[in-house]
Amino acid sequence: MQITLDTKALGAIETEALVTYAFEDGEPQGRLSELDQAAGGLLTRLIKSGEVSGKALEMTLLHAPAGLKAARLLVVGAGKREAFNGATLRKLAGAALRYLKARSVHGFVFAVRENGATEEAAQALAEGLVTADFETDKYKTEKKNDRFVDKVAIAGYGDAEKAAGEKGISRGQIIGEAQNFTRDLVNEPSNKLTPRILADKAEAMAKTAGLTVEVLDEKKIADLKMGALLSVAQGSVEPPRMIVITYTPANLKPNSPVVGLVGKAVTFDTGGISIKPADGMEKMKYDMAGGATMIGAMRALAALKPAVKVICVVPATENMPGGKAQKPGDIQTAMSGKTIEVLNTDAEGRLILADAVHYAKQLGATHLVDAATLTGAIVVALANVNVGVFGNDQPWTDKLLASAKAAGEKMWQLPMDDEYREFIKGSFADIQNIGSGKGGGSITGAWFIREFAGDTPWIHLDIAGTAWNDDAKAWLAKGPTGVSLRTLVHLVTSL
Ligand code: BES
Ligand code: ZN
Ligand code: ZN
Repeated sequence: MQITLDTKALGAIETEALVTYAFEDGEPQGRLSELDQAAGGLLTRLIKSGEVSGKALEMTLLHAPAGLKAARLLVVGAGKREAFNGATLRKLAGAALRYLKARSVHGFVFAVRENGATEEAAQALAEGLVTADFETDKYKTEKKNDRFVDKVAIAGYGDAEKAAGEKGISRGQIIGEAQNFTRDLVNEPSNKLTPRILADKAEAMAKTAGLTVEVLDEKKIADLKMGALLSVAQGSVEPPRMIVITYTPANLKPNSPVVGLVGKAVTFDTGGISIKPADGMEKMKYDMAGGATMIGAMRALAALKPAVKVICVVPATENMPGGKAQKPGDIQTAMSGKTIEVLNTDAEGRLILADAVHYAKQLGATHLVDAATLTGAIVVALANVNVGVFGNDQPWTDKLLASAKAAGEKMWQLPMDDEYREFIKGSFADIQNIGSGKGGGSITGAWFIREFAGDTPWIHLDIAGTAWNDDAKAWLAKGPTGVSLRTLVHLVTSL
């Protein structure tokens, strides 16, 4: 999809559809009143009659509006003016794209409102448009070939704002496309995305993007004594992989932080011997979303070229109940030397992250973030609305929360009091991989990983509730969301 700026006056723009948005504030104001005048008071009449209320995501499509050169005018409800921000704009643009695409419109112009022509707005728009355009019909043999949007222009930017607008579009396109890259990986079924295939895809991406990549095979993983990762992998005929992608800035300053991005990639989670119920198990193909998010973030960072070094570590495996599978009660030794009592083989994400986090530190990471579809409990706590955030260093965590806000992703920090640490104290080994039945399942999961982060500033993102949309949204297809990629890219580029 091509995204450009169109600096013409709104009434003079020739397009299949001109899109703008209305707030819940009555009379057309600013740019809307400009359009209203060009269209002979049409919008005033629609607002007075109540047909255009400005209610969030309300769609009003007008054909052949008199006085305008556009073939259609689409007015999208933007809710309350005071609550309007980049996140609203991102959704609006996405919803407009999906609405018009469903009506076989191939190109349109999106007009930002008065005072809205900023770099951030252009970025949010581009992100919204690119991510809204993503479909999950890859494996459908009959595609709706007339449903595509290949050209969008953004209007409302004058000569003074043009450079900012273009910069925002470019950034937003890079990030949106990286998010779609992640979503495509997450959507792959497990027969088409084994740990080896994921590693191949990560390697191909890294090479194209100019990143350094190393894939550790099962032998190398064993040589490095990654016992926790191996314990999960041993139940499957598919061998595990440890994917390491590195970005090094051209002029690396001494003593600058090295960010470690660690992502859980269980390409299918049956639960292992502690097997999951059949109902809904098909969804467990998305248990590699954390890893895919980190790989996608690296793709964006390679293009955005931040000033800090980033090491991405993705442990990839299946969790299967094969004849060689680990069993409840088994004791494993992680790469760090810590011993783990595996009381539930379905709490496998924390096991593979234990070795990945330890390895990222060994490779030189000074600041860690991990992302994982770690617990069902996070869905109980935060539903599909907020990403669960956990950390051992408040300044580092605050930075991430600020980035989440800037990137328009909802994240909520949960507590990590020492009391919760007691829940995972082992009876027969150093630690056990599930809490001792007192609730707080997401927190004990986080504490387990924290044991391996040690004193290194570390953040854990539990994306089990947010990485997959069970229902389509007006601005996003059903399925993989690519959540937290934008936040991570913002975090790294703002260091
Ligand atoms: N992959 C699951 C977590 C999950 C659940 C992701 C629902 C997405 C949706 C994870 O490996 C798991 O099974 N966790 C267990 C932990 C429990 C055994 C302590 C869980 O949440 O039930
Ligand atoms: Zn599991
Ligand atoms: Zn899992």
